[in-house]
Amino acid sequence: MSIDPAFLGRSEIATAEAMEQLGFRIGEQLDAGDLLVLTGPLGAGKTTFTRGLADGLGVRGPVQSPTFVIARTHPSLVGRAPLVHVDAYRLGSGAELDDLDLDLARSVVVVEWGRGMAEELADAWWDIELERPVGSVGDDIDASELDADAPRIVTIARAGV
Ligand SMILES: Nc1ncnc2c1ncn2[C@@H]1O[C@H](COP(=O)(O)OP(=O)(O)OP(=O)(O)O)[C@@H](O)[C@H]1O
Ligand SMILES: [Mg+2]
Repeated sequence: MSIDPAFLGRSEIATAEAMEQLGFRIGEQLDAGDLLVLTGPLGAGKTTFTRGLADGLGVRGPVQSPTFVIARTHPSLVGRAPLVHVDAYRLGSGAELDDLDLDLARSVVVVEWGRGMAEELADAWWDIELERPVGSVGDDIDASELDADAPRIVTIARAGV
């Protein structure tokens, strides 16, 4: 149940590939019972990070933005914990998240857009914030600009008790 403290704090991630690698190295360290809450605007890299995490954990892909299903379970290919990938964007409250009856104890759970809701699920979790230093929420950026490699700031913290 631990991410190496060396990963905590703020770092700049220059490319989408580096974001996947960060996810991979964190995924290698996770165990059943770990809950990660990813926060950041559209295109910040939450799903890119989760794709790497899934590889590091050794689960079956593909990992996609789960926008049209609230939660998708990726079984392990290597006898480790499955990954439950949740998009809480359209959920109204932590109570609705809790209603999904996710098997937290036996899974690694990643919740995109889950900040403010995780409290309902667990006493402690990993809070991961992704920011785009240029082009913040509400700015007019087209899709091609979103896809082009540009730095993101990632801040990882232990939250809860
Ligand atoms: N440094 C970077 N880190 C992560 N992604 C990057 C980076 N630079 C460019 N990108 C691009 O930004 C996009 C991130 O998309 P992604 O789906 O991961 O974001 P998201 O936060 O999950 O968005 P949504 O809120 O729509 O689910 C990808 O197209 C990726 O290639
Ligand atoms: Mg996403």
